[in-house]
Amino acid sequence: MARLSETQIVFPHSEISRRVVELAHDISLDYQGCHPVLLGVLKGSFVFLADLIRHLGLEVKIDFVRLSSYSGQVSSGKVSLLYRPQIALKGEDIIVVEDIIDSGLTAATLTRYLRENNPASIRLCALVDKPWHRSTSVVIDYLGFTAPDRFLVGYGLDYNEDYRHLPDIYALAEDNNGKL
Ligand code: IMP
Ligand code: MG
Repeated sequence: MARLSETQIVFPHSEISRRVVELAHDISLDYQGCHPVLLGVLKGSFVFLADLIRHLGLEVKIDFVRLSSYSGQVSSGKVSLLYRPQIALKGEDIIVVEDIIDSGLTAATLTRYLRENNPASIRLCALVDKPWHRSTSVVIDYLGFTAPDRFLVGYGLDYNEDYRHLPDIYALAEDNNGKL
């Protein structure tokens, strides 16, 4: 695994932390008196979700889903549900917590699946939006950052399972076919 240089940092950890606190504040205001289910989309959202919930002044339930479509930097365009929520979602207020919205296919597929479970409400919280190649429209209710059209790693985001542990978010080098 090649090293990343500091010049590749797009969102430093300090900025991410500040933004996560703001998002948690917005969510807490909107869900006062509610007991929402935060549904983390594995694996990319696990760091974001863990930080976010510790700044919510709310009682929440946590569950996860896993969908798959990416291999390396390229989306296969087909999204399948690999792991379903274990909590019964009927009548629940669901907040989907995503790392990145790119084509929008993952979020759209997940929302369709969740609706079939008759929750009371569904909202989407995403750390990063990459709105440059949408193939379907997605409403992001709580958004951390809009990113340039680059492949990002760190803070839970991976490139073939590497780099998730990094505290900052980096853009992969654009040359050499995405190799670092
Ligand atoms: P979408 O279905 O194209 O919106 O892709 C969403 C999923 O692809 C995200 O949840 C990420 O897991 C993954 N993804 C998209 N862009 C990136 C990136 O720049 N770095 C890491 N993962 C990404
Ligand atoms: Mg993801």
